[in-house]
Amino acid sequence: MSTVVLVGAQWGDEGKGKITDFLAEKADYVVRYQGGSNAGHTVVVGDDKFMLHLIPSGILYPGTVSVIGNGVALDPEILLDEMEGLRQRGIDISNLRISSRAHVVMPYHKLFDELQENGDFKIGTTKRGIGPLYTDKVSRTGFRVTDLLDKKIFPETLKRIVEEKNNILDRIYGKPGLVFEDLLDKYQNFGEQLRPMVVDTSLLVNQAIDAGKKVLLEGAQGTLLDIDHGTYPFVTSSHPTAGGACVGAGVGPSKINRVVGVVKAYSTRVGEGPFPTELADETGEMLRRNGDEYGTTTGRPRRCGWLDAVILKYAARINGLTDLAITKLDVLDSLEKIKICVAYRYRDSVLYDFPDSLEVLRECEPVYLEMDGWMQNMEGIRDIKDLPPKAQEYVNKMVELCGVETCLLAVGPGRLQTIVTREVFQ
Ligand code: IMP
Repeated sequence: MSTVVLVGAQWGDEGKGKITDFLAEKADYVVRYQGGSNAGHTVVVGDDKFMLHLIPSGILYPGTVSVIGNGVALDPEILLDEMEGLRQRGIDISNLRISSRAHVVMPYHKLFDELQENGDFKIGTTKRGIGPLYTDKVSRTGFRVTDLLDKKIFPETLKRIVEEKNNILDRIYGKPGLVFEDLLDKYQNFGEQLRPMVVDTSLLVNQAIDAGKKVLLEGAQGTLLDIDHGTYPFVTSSHPTAGGACVGAGVGPSKINRVVGVVKAYSTRVGEGPFPTELADETGEMLRRNGDEYGTTTGRPRRCGWLDAVILKYAARINGLTDLAITKLDVLDSLEKIKICVAYRYRDSVLYDFPDSLEVLRECEPVYLEMDGWMQNMEGIRDIKDLPPKAQEYVNKMVELCGVETCLLAVGPGRLQTIVTREVFQ
């Protein structure tokens, strides 16, 4: 049995798509467990670049079963588009399975996301309807895929919910309402297109685990965007952390063998919220340029800064990380000096643990450790013994600061630009 959870250890965009793609070659199943089309995974295969939002990166390997788990916010319109895009590029998608329990993103979720973001208080969301979708899920006014496929339940419930939503649109926002009949037709049609792939994915995945298959549970976003453990309220509305994998895939914690934290060799963040190591200078610009730090989903420039080991240590604790997959080391290739934040200075004290209060975090000044850069192009390196000594020192320092060993080091976006330091699947 080999069940591995893969999580982002920062604010998302750590390069999880590349690492998932790399591990997917060995995996029998790749399962998305939370988030929705707010995520964007870029996978580079040879000269081809694939941008995936909802479909797990495992889809690019014909033998791997790709699963959209119950915890995912499933936008059928975007999913069907993504499926068509892959088909047109010759990718076999017959191994895609969709949870009957996943909640369905409806047009009013996207509308409310947009309207809320247009107000005075902004989270900086992707406007993909994620917050409103999970709000409805928790307030028990959502639709699961199984409800969408039910010829009786879906029309009945949709009628009531559209009336409720139209009331809010009219009274709070002064906007025209949605037409029930149009939504019904459109979404029943989407449901019929998805029906052949819909199964009880928890059953499917547990059967695979029991049969000794290799299963990768793939998180979207990152630890600091977790609704409980992130920089609330500047977070997403799901659980990108390892605990979320159990809930969002319907797999018990005793079935998980390893938890891989994907961490970029520096930090980035999109959207609003404090970011202690943010660099508003030429180095920040260079990281954005060399790291191509623009959102896959929204195209927004990402805020860039030095690696924050306070956050890395926090991510190691919250997720119980067993392994680190460090990405984008090559982006630091040309730097003479590299800094790592090892603590925060807050008023008269020094903090070594990530604070719970955003107001405290806003006032935190990073305490940096400065290291020499390696000043060498690493994109062709495939073996750990060829890593420049200074780069090895940087990696060792990351390991020392969070207490988690590495499994993979990425030195470029391509599939082959990955150094294995220890095997993830048994
Ligand atoms: P939402 O998930 O669209 O509601 O956005 C909430 C916050 O999470 C915003 O700060 C977004 O920028 C951020 N976010 C959501 N998805 C991603 C992602 O895939 N990568 C990085 N940030 C994300």
